[in-house]
Amino acid sequence: MKTIAIVGSQWGDEGKGKITDLLAQKSNLVVRFQGGNNAGHTIIVEDKKIVLHLIPSGILHPTCLSLIGHGVVLEPEALINELAEVKKAGVSVTPENFKISSSCSVITSYHRIMDAVRESKGPVKIGTTGKGIGPAYEDKISRKGIKVSDLFDKKLLHAKLERNFIEKKVLLDHLYDTEYPSIDSEVTRLYELGQQIQQFVCDSFSLIDQHTTQGSNILYEGAQGVLLDIDYGSYPFVTSSSTSYGGIFTGAGAPKGKIDEVIGITKAYTTRVGEGPFPTELHSPIGEKIQRIGGEFGATTGRKRRCGWLDLPLLKYSIKSSCISSIALTKLDVLSEIEELKVCVAYKYEGKEIDIAYPGIDLSRVEPIFETFNPFVDKFDGSELSDELKRYIKLIEDSTQVPVGIIAFGPERNQIQFRKEFFN
Ligand code: GDP
Ligand code: IMO
Ligand code: MG
Repeated sequence: MKTIAIVGSQWGDEGKGKITDLLAQKSNLVVRFQGGNNAGHTIIVEDKKIVLHLIPSGILHPTCLSLIGHGVVLEPEALINELAEVKKAGVSVTPENFKISSSCSVITSYHRIMDAVRESKGPVKIGTTGKGIGPAYEDKISRKGIKVSDLFDKKLLHAKLERNFIEKKVLLDHLYDTEYPSIDSEVTRLYELGQQIQQFVCDSFSLIDQHTTQGSNILYEGAQGVLLDIDYGSYPFVTSSSTSYGGIFTGAGAPKGKIDEVIGITKAYTTRVGEGPFPTELHSPIGEKIQRIGGEFGATTGRKRRCGWLDLPLLKYSIKSSCISSIALTKLDVLSEIEELKVCVAYKYEGKEIDIAYPGIDLSRVEPIFETFNPFVDKFDGSELSDELKRYIKLIEDSTQVPVGIIAFGPERNQIQFRKEFFN
């Protein structure tokens, strides 16, 4: 039995889907523990591209059970559409290989509307994905959310939704002056959607417990990244869940509270979607080239991702705050086509030089200190890695004191090198 966590070490989109899919081959259970359909995890298999938002990235492996843990906020309509897309791609999804926790909080139409109006009319624009994630987590925390288990009893659902809507109605009518569906129509919609997903719903606590007893290999698939974590991230420009290691324990639960390995998925450069500070961001033709070659467009919203150099002070912080024990370094092939290579090794901040982005520093006021390296030009065709690339990897390992256990050099399954065994 082994437990492995996949965590994004930056601002998301590091390639978590690809690595999860590969490690799922040897897993019995893959569990999403937070976030919702704000995530976009891409898996490329031969000529097929599958983008998963809610369904765990183990779904392509028939013997692996994919579970949506109770920490996820679930938008039932988005899930049903995603199930249809995945089935269209030839993937079999049955109650045997896919399950949803009955304790997930539900994203309603009101959450999506609230997210949208706050972004367009509110005082602070976060650049959210517009999926209603923040408002749904707010309701969960304020103890008035709708759970998946509430979807199956129309009367109960009506009563809970009515209670849930009292405050929102005032805001939508008077502050945001916006239209919204009636409670009756929302209840009908959610109830009908509930009927379609009921076959997958389970008690996830007992399911994980059962796998613990059986000695299963369990893979936890994080969404977003440490720097978007509600507590550890670059607040307020974050998502509303615990994207870090800690989220596993509240959003799913781990056998005997133990995770054997935390893999920090790390892009060889940095990207960010949405608003917020980004110390190494490139506003230059090189940045545009990375964006273009890397195909850096959001998998959920299609927005252009902002691009910049690798930021070691932030990576060191993510590693410490999420107990990352191994790095998976992705998208090296993209840098291999770039004629310049820089890495941020420290910041100048309030007259001092600091080499880790500890909390409390204002990322919009740091001045990155870059080291320039000889760029690497590698074909990744099975031949030995260039000395320049070896130096790049060693710099990351020396600086973070964490081994690079995986390198990825393309979106496809075989464009990867495991430098250690994870599930043996
Ligand atoms: P996730 O949200 O962390 O799962 O990442 P996304 O799927 O949003 O974005 C990563 C993108 O990079 C996807 O289009 C992947 O197919 C692609 N990708 C993953 N690893 C590599 C790699 O090593 N090289 C290249 N060129 N693309 C990669
Ligand atoms: P994956 O799992 C990149 C960002 C949004 C926004 C902020 C808050 O594919 O890595 P939200 O809709 O969550 O309230 O938006 O978080 N964001 C992501 N950025 N990858 C993601 O997921 C993201 N999920 C949310 O762009 O800045
Ligand atoms: Mg993504």
